[in-house]
Amino acid sequence: MAIGKSVRLTPRYPASIRVDDEIELRLVRDRDAPRIFALMDGSREYLRKWLPWVDTTRTVADTEGFVHRAHEQMGRGEGFHAGIEYRGALAGIIGHVYLDPVNQRAEIGYWLGETFQGRGIMTRTCRRMVDYAFESLGLHRVEIRVDVDNRKSRAIPERLGFVPEVLLRESVHAHGQFRDIVMYAKLRGEWELEGSRGVSKSLHGGPAVPRTEE
Ligand SMILES: CC(C)(COP(=O)(O)OP(=O)(O)OC[C@H]1O[C@@H](n2cnc3c(N)ncnc32)[C@H](O)[C@@H]1OP(=O)(O)O)[C@@H](O)C(=O)NCCC(=O)NCCS
Repeated sequence: MAIGKSVRLTPRYPASIRVDDEIELRLVRDRDAPRIFALMDGSREYLRKWLPWVDTTRTVADTEGFVHRAHEQMGRGEGFHAGIEYRGALAGIIGHVYLDPVNQRAEIGYWLGETFQGRGIMTRTCRRMVDYAFESLGLHRVEIRVDVDNRKSRAIPERLGFVPEVLLRESVHAHGQFRDIVMYAKLRGEWELEGSRGVSKSLHGGPAVPRTEE
């Protein structure tokens, strides 16, 4: 058990967060809906395998609904969603898909347009989101949940030194199947120990969770 610091109950998010020279995060705005929809629509076949909501997002109006709900969520202080701008082009979306201020934890969710894969965009962005959660929001725990077979997505928390804590058996229903999900987490104390060394190795292996296939 750890003694917690107090955390601001309704965080105020900045309009943009700089990741590095190439990447900037911008809070999703109403006028971004057509760009977000176009990016998703162009990668539909590859995204739908892991993101079941893709099949129910058929028009720009559906994406406008997502932006609207994101704003409501942000207003309640329960998380935020940002566009990932890579060299000025929208490459994907990342967010705190939920933020629990009482227990000081957040879950990060993300996706990239297909052609933006393989450049480290998400690993770099996710690392910044983790720093932001601990440093700026003062959170205690950051979680990432990934389908056990989603090798590319599992590689991200693994590169960032998250601990695979538990296998949530058959906890998501997608494409007619109940899927197993790996819960990864990083605690504030682990993040603090990494210090200036950047990406860490996990401090401990965590309970047995199936490995990603090579
Ligand atoms: C999950 C997803 C974001 C991963 O995309 P990705 O491009 O593999 O991840 P990154 O942007 O971090 O890039 C990592 C790749 O770039 C390479 N890379 C290049 N420069 C890099 C850098 N500076 N840092 C890290 N990796 C780098 C890595 O070697 C890796 O390539 P590899 O897969 O051939 O080993 C993407 O596949 C996706 O959107 N999938 C569909 C939606 C989804 O599954 N969302 C997650 C649900 S939990």
